[in-house]
Amino acid sequence: RAEAPVLAAARTGCVTRAARRQAVIEAKKVAVLGAAGGIGQPLSLLLKMNRMVTELSLYDIANVAGVAADLSHCNTPTQVKAYTGAEELGAALKGCELVVIPAGVPRKPGMTRDDLFNINAGIVKSLCEAVAQHCPNAVINIISNPVNSTVPICAEVLKKAGVYDKRKVMGVTSLDVVRANTFVAEAKGLDTRDVDVPVIGGHAGETILPLLSQATPKVLPWFSPEEIEQLTVRIQNAGTEVVEAKAGAGSATLSMAYAAARMAESVLLGLNGAPGVEECTYVESSLVPGFQYFASKVRLGPNGVEEILPLPPLSEYEQQGLEKMKDLLTKNIQAGIDFANKA
Ligand code: NAD
Ligand code: LMR
Repeated sequence: RAEAPVLAAARTGCVTRAARRQAVIEAKKVAVLGAAGGIGQPLSLLLKMNRMVTELSLYDIANVAGVAADLSHCNTPTQVKAYTGAEELGAALKGCELVVIPAGVPRKPGMTRDDLFNINAGIVKSLCEAVAQHCPNAVINIISNPVNSTVPICAEVLKKAGVYDKRKVMGVTSLDVVRANTFVAEAKGLDTRDVDVPVIGGHAGETILPLLSQATPKVLPWFSPEEIEQLTVRIQNAGTEVVEAKAGAGSATLSMAYAAARMAESVLLGLNGAPGVEECTYVESSLVPGFQYFASKVRLGPNGVEEILPLPPLSEYEQQGLEKMKDLLTKNIQAGIDFANKA
C-alpha cells in the first residue's frame, strides 16, 4: 500500500488534493469495452498512466490487439491485455472492479443522440449481460449514447440477472462538467482547475442543466441573465459543436477520454477508501420527483455511490430548466426500460 499519485494531467473538479493524498493503492482490474475506438484508445492510455489501475483489460470486436501491444510498451506498471470478440469477453471481465463502456456508434452532423439508440441500445444490453455474468460486483461507467437511455438499459439487465446494485451503475456526464468549468474559467479569466460547476439532469440537449448559480469560485461581477442563457445553451450544445467541427468523422473523443479518466480515477479513489470524493453522474435517483434517473453530485466510496448529495438551491432560470427537461428525460428513461424488457 503506497500513496496514490496525482493523475499526471492537470484535473479540475471535486476530488480534493487531500483525498488523493490519503488514498491507498490496492490492485484494481479495470476493463474498457470498445477500447479500439475514438474514445477507447486515449482513455486506455490515460488509464495505463493511472497507478491505481494494476490490470487493464482492453476489449473490442476488432483491432484491439494492436492497441494493447502499443500501450504495453509504455513503461508504467499497469498490465495491459487485449480481448477480441464475444468469446473473449468473459475473460476480459473476470475479476474487474470497474468496467468503462464507450462501445457504440457516435453521431454525425444532423443527428441527435437518440438517433444512436437503435444500434447502441443492443450493444450496451449485451455487454451488460456479460458484466452481470462475469463481474457482477463491478462498478459500471457508461459512456455510450444516448446515456439517458443506456443507463436504464444497464440497470434493467442487471435487475433481470438478480445482481443490480444502484450504487454501482453510473452514466458518465463528467464531460458536461469539464466543459462548463472550461467555459466559465475562460469567460472569467480563472484557472480552469479551480472552477467547479455542477451539471445536473441528463446528457442530451436541454436535459443538460449547468447550475451556474452554484459555480465556484464566484467572481464579481457575475454573469448577466443574458450571459447565463448563452453559456447554458453553449454547454448544452457543446457535443454538437464538436460533431460539426469533425464534419462526419465522429464526436468528442479526446475531451471525453479525459473526462472519463477523471471519472474512473474518482471511482477508484472511492473504492480505495479515499474520503471526500464527489462527482456529478447520472444514476438511479429519487432526488427530483418524477425522474427515476438523474445526474447530480454524488459522494463516491467503497461501494460506488455512497450518497446522492442534496440539490443546492436553484435560480429561477435553473428551476425553469428543470421543468423544461421533464418530457425529454422521462421519455428517454422509459425508452431504455422498455427496450431492456421487451421479449
Ligand atoms: P467509435 O466508433 O470511434 O468507437 C466505438 C468502438 O466501439 C469501436 O472500436 C467499435 O469496434 C466498438 N464496438 C462496437 N460494438 C461493440 C461491441 N458490441 N462490443 C465492444 N465494442 C464494440 O466511437 P467513439 O467516438 O469512441 O464513441 C463511442 C460512444 O461514446 C458513442 O456512442 C458516442 O456517442 C459516445 N460518447 C459519449 C459521451 C458522453 O459524454 N457520455 C461523449 C462522447 C461520445
Ligand atoms: C458529447 O457530449 O460530446 C457526446 O455526447 C457525443 C455527442 O454525440 O455529442
